[in-house]
Amino acid sequence: MQIPRLHPETIDEVKQRADIVDVISERVVLRKRGKDYTGLCPFHEEKTPSFSVSPSKQMYYCFGCQAGGNSITFLMELGKRSFSDVVLDLAGRYQVPVKTLEPEQRQELQRQLSLREQLYEILALTAEFYKHALRQPQAGQAREYLKDKRQLREETIQQFHLGYAPAGWETLYRYLVEQKGKPLQQVEQAGLIVPRKKGDGYYDRFRDRLIIPIHDTQGRTIGFGGRSLGDEQPKYLNSPETPLFDKGKTLFALDKARDAIGKQDQAVVVEGYFDAIALHAAGITNVVASLGTALSDHHVRQLLRYTDSKQIVLNFDADAAGTNAAERAIAEITPLVYSGQVQLRVLNLPEGKDADEFLKANPDGAEKYQELLKSAPLWLDWQISQLLSNQDLKQADRFGQVAQEMVKLLRQIIDDNQRTHYIRHCGELLSQGDSRLVSLNIENLLAQVGKPLSNKPKKSHTSPQKPFSNLALPIGSEDRLLEEAEALLLRIYLHQPEYRQAIVDALEVPDLIFSLSHHRFLWQQILELQQDLEASTPALDPLISLLQEKSLQFPTEMAQVAHLFHLDEKQEEDISRTPLVIRAAIACLEQVACAHRRRYCLEQWQKLDPSKDLKRKQDYWEQFSEADRQIKELEKVRNAAFSEIVEMTAL
Ligand code: UTP
Ligand code: MN
Repeated sequence: MQIPRLHPETIDEVKQRADIVDVISERVVLRKRGKDYTGLCPFHEEKTPSFSVSPSKQMYYCFGCQAGGNSITFLMELGKRSFSDVVLDLAGRYQVPVKTLEPEQRQELQRQLSLREQLYEILALTAEFYKHALRQPQAGQAREYLKDKRQLREETIQQFHLGYAPAGWETLYRYLVEQKGKPLQQVEQAGLIVPRKKGDGYYDRFRDRLIIPIHDTQGRTIGFGGRSLGDEQPKYLNSPETPLFDKGKTLFALDKARDAIGKQDQAVVVEGYFDAIALHAAGITNVVASLGTALSDHHVRQLLRYTDSKQIVLNFDADAAGTNAAERAIAEITPLVYSGQVQLRVLNLPEGKDADEFLKANPDGAEKYQELLKSAPLWLDWQISQLLSNQDLKQADRFGQVAQEMVKLLRQIIDDNQRTHYIRHCGELLSQGDSRLVSLNIENLLAQVGKPLSNKPKKSHTSPQKPFSNLALPIGSEDRLLEEAEALLLRIYLHQPEYRQAIVDALEVPDLIFSLSHHRFLWQQILELQQDLEASTPALDPLISLLQEKSLQFPTEMAQVAHLFHLDEKQEEDISRTPLVIRAAIACLEQVACAHRRRYCLEQWQKLDPSKDLKRKQDYWEQFSEADRQIKELEKVRNAAFSEIVEMTAL
């Protein structure tokens, strides 16, 4: 169960009513200067004012630290709060009626809000109960476990509110339901008791386990982890998903780590509860733990609120399983990494130890850990070194494989400068110290990855009277064709919600990506927002307005694609015959991809010496011919779609 999504009208109304000067002047002393106001920036230390607020634009901007946004983003930044949190708060202050996406969800919202309050109370009572139980004689083994096995000090046990779930089947049940009179249904919804399979009744979920309470950022208990004291399985039993507890949105110890993350401008993510606890106990407090799940986009965004320079270090196990785990763990957040929204680093501890084991094994563990943190490589560098580890590049097939994997990584880098840097770096690595090979390897990588293309969108259209004329360009003018085909797909996606799935599908099967970096950037923003918008109705589609809000965050990037948010008459007509346009545009994208491949194979074929490398030379020729054949096929598809469109327009 989730809080229903706020209606865009509510959000708009809040934006209109919550006047920026009003909101900001509560926190900052503002002086009128001309038509704007100025004051001391609350986001950085300063003695002379460089913070400016514009009532006409309803925006603020700091000339010193470049912070900028509207009244909602101001409160989000200042209080490190979520968007909906701020909107709900402002709605209350400015008497904006809160509407949810569907009207019938309104009452549901009220009901859920009060249910949530009740669940918080039940969980708080439970946490106290477990804490108290840890001090009872029956918890002797649990206390020993904490002191001996985990070597935790009393102070740490208290700081983390650790507890003990007694061994009986109905101890908590009796306490909450019989003694405290809590409704059975709510205790079950809180994930604390489980209905018996046979017959009536319930039993406690956590029995004879050490209890680790999980808190939200405000320090309220939202769930529990329970560690078995011996070898009983599962090793950890966790609260199920409840209206308060969503593993994909919760990070253990974030309530205790947020200040330190801000101060050190860096967040460390470990795998286990006890890794986080041990690090905090050792004085390294900018640490949170994921809860046995992959790191979600939401997790990362939560952390990014506290670290200005977007530094996150992932400290996952380093064994073979750990490598995969790290890759799996970040699969969902790669778009954030490649678009530069997060500076992700990877820390592997020696001998495959986890942080808890590492600290116990080293007398000066905390210091060593800090040093290792400082030298943790960036995710991309880490991946590249993983590719090279234990590979003998002298063997042609190994070399080819590694190079191919590198190309895959390099293709994902959006920033042109960064891409150029890494292409050079990989070219050097592949050359293994032989300086004669470096430029050749760089060129090969460049050819496969695709040269960084000019970022300037070309606005003009060649012949305005002809519909859809831009897609009929000859294949020679690749960049231009690609710009138009990609822009068309994006326009359809943005302006015709009913075709969104079709576009996603069409791109997925031949595994196509947007080649132009500004388009790729927009596509990633869309995909991120889209996850939150699944159920929205086309008539009220908020995608474009949400994307426009991203301009606050990414002004340069968004400026390059902003023209796609509006349609002129011709563009409107172009995209109106949608299925055909999609087909033709996709064929264009495929054609350009094939042309890249064709050129590369030809270059390779020309380079190879038949007396040495006959087999490879033949392979390249075959691949070249295959790409050539595909290009001609695609040309037919494109022309067919094109002439259909011309016919339809003539009618
Ligand atoms: P690990 O298995 O890596 O264990 O689980 P650990 O944290 O080192 O555990 P100790 O030191 O033996 O106590 C990492 C995390 O994965 C989740 C927990 O959140 C745990 O902290 N997990 C693990 C579960 O949820 N259930 C399990 O059975 C095991
Ligand atoms: Mn461990």
